[in-house]
Amino acid sequence: MQVLKPNVFFVGARDWDRQLFDELIPLPDGTTYNAFLIKGSEKTVLIDTVDPAKEQVLFDNLNELGIEQIDYVVSHHAEQDHSGTIPAILRQFPMARIVTNQKCCNLLKDHLLIPDDKFKIVADGEVLRLGNKNLRFIFTPWVHWPETMSSYLEEDKILFSCDFFGSHLATSELLVDDKNRVYRSAKRYYAEIMMPFRNNVRQNLEKIRNLEIDLIAPSHGPSYPEPGFIMEAYEDWTSDRVSNEVLIPYVSMHGSTEKMVQHLTAALIDRHIKVQPFNLTHTDIGELAMALVDAATVVIGSPTVILGPHPAAITAAYLVNFLRPKTKFLGIIGSYGWGGKMVDNLGSLLSGLKAEILPPVVIKGHPKADDFKAIENLADEIAARHNSLNLTEGGQ
Ligand code: FEO
Repeated sequence: MQVLKPNVFFVGARDWDRQLFDELIPLPDGTTYNAFLIKGSEKTVLIDTVDPAKEQVLFDNLNELGIEQIDYVVSHHAEQDHSGTIPAILRQFPMARIVTNQKCCNLLKDHLLIPDDKFKIVADGEVLRLGNKNLRFIFTPWVHWPETMSSYLEEDKILFSCDFFGSHLATSELLVDDKNRVYRSAKRYYAEIMMPFRNNVRQNLEKIRNLEIDLIAPSHGPSYPEPGFIMEAYEDWTSDRVSNEVLIPYVSMHGSTEKMVQHLTAALIDRHIKVQPFNLTHTDIGELAMALVDAATVVIGSPTVILGPHPAAITAAYLVNFLRPKTKFLGIIGSYGWGGKMVDNLGSLLSGLKAEILPPVVIKGHPKADDFKAIENLADEIAARHNSLNLTEGGQ
């Protein structure tokens, strides 16, 4: 049994083999569903549960600890990977009460059909007394649902943050031991689900800034014995700062758009700008999401298919739009055979971004000398915009 602090135990589950979350997000490193058990001198609390697929692991861990009574189940977030095993816990421990906020209660009733009398509703800042330990609730909404909250174990200075600060990373280590790996995994996780709520996340960061925290224990991935490491990363990701970088998600059918992408890539490198092309036929969308956290500019490349954008480019544009990155400049390049509305269609899909739209470069057939010149002009436009923001090579 892994122990986080005296009388605070990890009772969650590792899911080494899970490959997809929400049937959308690739999980190259699996994930964990972190549940914790706190034994106070008077009350025993379970902090979240696990995905129903790992229900037995949670019960095995509770059995190993010899747990015969649970007084409270704290539910920080109603999504099933943390709440889905609550009904099974209530069957095994019928005297347990679910401690959560009103919004989460409503969602749990809707999704898990839990009756009203099983809940104890708490307010922001309220303290649950466990005897020799006190658990204070801190509402941290929109990371990434409206009901999300955290809790702070005052005596041990542990912040249980649920998805906030999490990472989809299955590892045997309870605490961060490979900072680079965890940084990438946490950034990817932030990009995939938190980035659309960047302003809310920043407000939540402010809310916990003055807490004295020894350990942040999220509900996915390892816990942080150096909380400053992940809090500084979040401050960077949620800031308005962008990097001197261009992302080019693209797809090409017969090579014309690809030649344009290659020419733009080379032209940007010549102008000392970092470039990441993403071939959408095989791009891991989590990698694209992670790159969107910082990049100043996105240029989408698409051929014209039946008068509109290629479906892969439509999907990418839709993703970029709903992830709401802090992208400052947006471009569209591509090709057509006889006509179409590829630029108009992609532009409308990207209308949610607060980015300046750069002049599109759309060509007929194979790129020719003038077309390559137009691409170089686009690279000049991007370089000028980046210079106007004082973005420097490889920096911010
Ligand atoms: Fe890990 Fe939003 O659930």
